[in-house]
Amino acid sequence: VIVTGTDTGVGKTYVACGLARRLSARGLRVAAIKPIESGCGGAGEDGMLLAEASGQAQPTVALVRLRAPLAPPLAAELEGVELDDDRIEAETLALAEGTDVALIEGAGGVLTPLTWRLNAVELARRLGARALVVGSDRLGTVNHVLLSCEALERAGVDVAGIVLNAPEVPDASTGSNAATLARLRTELSIAVIARDDDANLDEVTRWLLD
Ligand SMILES: Nc1ncnc2c1ncn2[C@@H]1O[C@H](COP(=O)(O)OP(=O)(O)O)[C@@H](O)[C@H]1O
Ligand SMILES: [Mg+2]
Repeated sequence: VIVTGTDTGVGKTYVACGLARRLSARGLRVAAIKPIESGCGGAGEDGMLLAEASGQAQPTVALVRLRAPLAPPLAAELEGVELDDDRIEAETLALAEGTDVALIEGAGGVLTPLTWRLNAVELARRLGARALVVGSDRLGTVNHVLLSCEALERAGVDVAGIVLNAPEVPDASTGSNAATLARLRTELSIAVIARDDDANLDEVTRWLLD
């Protein structure tokens, strides 16, 4: 499952970690993988948080770690790092094999470049993965979620569901966006996650196991 979203900072890692904890608590073999992470070097890198949540032995950090807080291919160029998309795909697949569920977190949103040839949509397509789309439950998310779903679907990637995550600062739309999306796309599974309370990820866990 590719855990992607409408933007950076919307809660992809928070959601992926909550799912990894739940899946591993059920006794399932879980891998939570960040193929490429930029902005590395501080505490609490996504790759580390994901590994801690799943309890996996390997990997303990993102497969490729880049320092600059920029889109990965730019950060890579700054460091003279060559990003090889075939290798990233193969390593991700190798880690996913032998697990019951592999959660793969992209960077940024669905079309954010992971390399100059790879983004979350293309990685999901190549891996045959389904996608979870995480968005922030704030004004603008309806458009961002629908665009993200269109990009995934156009590439033949199955959308497993939408997770609307509570923003730090709510706005007038917070709490109503799920119902709006449900009216526009009746077939989509949508879950709403509260601030500091991820109990509704139980439902999302069930989507992944169906
Ligand atoms: N529902 C939530 N309740 C409390 N904090 C949250 C929630 N969702 C996200 N956060 C926090 O908000 C920040 C951004 O979330 P994160 O999962 O890192 O986003 P992304 O992976 O999409 O960049 C992190 O510090 C994260 O712990
Ligand atoms: Mg993240």
